[in-house]
Amino acid sequence: MSTGRPTKAVIPVAGLGTRFLPATKATPKEMLPVVDKPAIQYVVEEAVQAGLTDVLMVTGRNKRPLEDHFDRNIELELSLEAKGDQERLDRIHASTDLANIHYVRQGDPLGLGHAVLVAEQHVGREAFAVLLGDDLIDERDPLLARMLEVQAQRGGSVVALMEVPQQQIHLYGCAAATATDDDDVVRVTGLVEKPPADEAPSNLAVIGRYVLSPTVFDVLHETPPGRAGEIQLTDALQTLATMPADDGGGVSGVVFRGRRYDTGDRAGYLKAVVRIASDRADLGPEFVEWLGQFVAELKQAANGSSSTGGRVNP
Ligand code: G1P
Repeated sequence: MSTGRPTKAVIPVAGLGTRFLPATKATPKEMLPVVDKPAIQYVVEEAVQAGLTDVLMVTGRNKRPLEDHFDRNIELELSLEAKGDQERLDRIHASTDLANIHYVRQGDPLGLGHAVLVAEQHVGREAFAVLLGDDLIDERDPLLARMLEVQAQRGGSVVALMEVPQQQIHLYGCAAATATDDDDVVRVTGLVEKPPADEAPSNLAVIGRYVLSPTVFDVLHETPPGRAGEIQLTDALQTLATMPADDGGGVSGVVFRGRRYDTGDRAGYLKAVVRIASDRADLGPEFVEWLGQFVAELKQAANGSSSTGGRVNP
């Protein structure tokens, strides 16, 4: 087994995106723009920023636009060149030159654990990262780099955890954990996929970043379908958490306290767009000013309607 620094990132993108229908009828949900970049580009940029320049996307049917986005578009390049529009040329080159991107199809959508298993041949016997496209991590709060550091120090696998309100824990994998000497690192003693709030061992939710030991492949081969009849990555991690370090087991958690945007549902997606637009140097100042006025108008309208509520027209 290689002990070198991980270089590979796996991004599962086979999901159907049904929460965004009809927008995702013919367009992958990963291609929905967050301001002016498709959501998937932020995720690939995050991997590259953490030093992972070999990216494998685990795709499915109807995901061709993803491949096109990270490939060259000669016609567009020639047209921009003819106009001398260097700024836009740079923008399209940025996505083409970002990383060394590979694609493999998942075939049957049998769950996240299955998607990771499909990456086995490409990854080989080295530690690797998994990034889920629904979670965007603010580039100012580098999470993946910290996880890679923790994996280099402690070995085994590393999950990203975030404290969530107890009533939201059923939406996530949930970790039982004990403290370590590092304020932001815990030892994970158990994991359960999407438990009901009253059965959850903690309010530590697994968010969509993982650094995994290749032993996860051996475990996934033996992992039966779990919640929702799917092969769950969380179940494989539960097994790894109980295995000795010498056998490739052991799971640590990095407790993330930075900015995370959940683009997996419509409300989260809208918030991500507004927050990221507000922070942009080129758009932010004008947008935030407008937003302030818009919110003030909304409040005024709400106050107005409540004070006139129930009044009979004169
Ligand atoms: C997946 C994982 C879950 C994790 C979540 C993070 O669930 O199965 O353990 O907490 O991602 O976003 P999904 O949201 O794909 O249903």
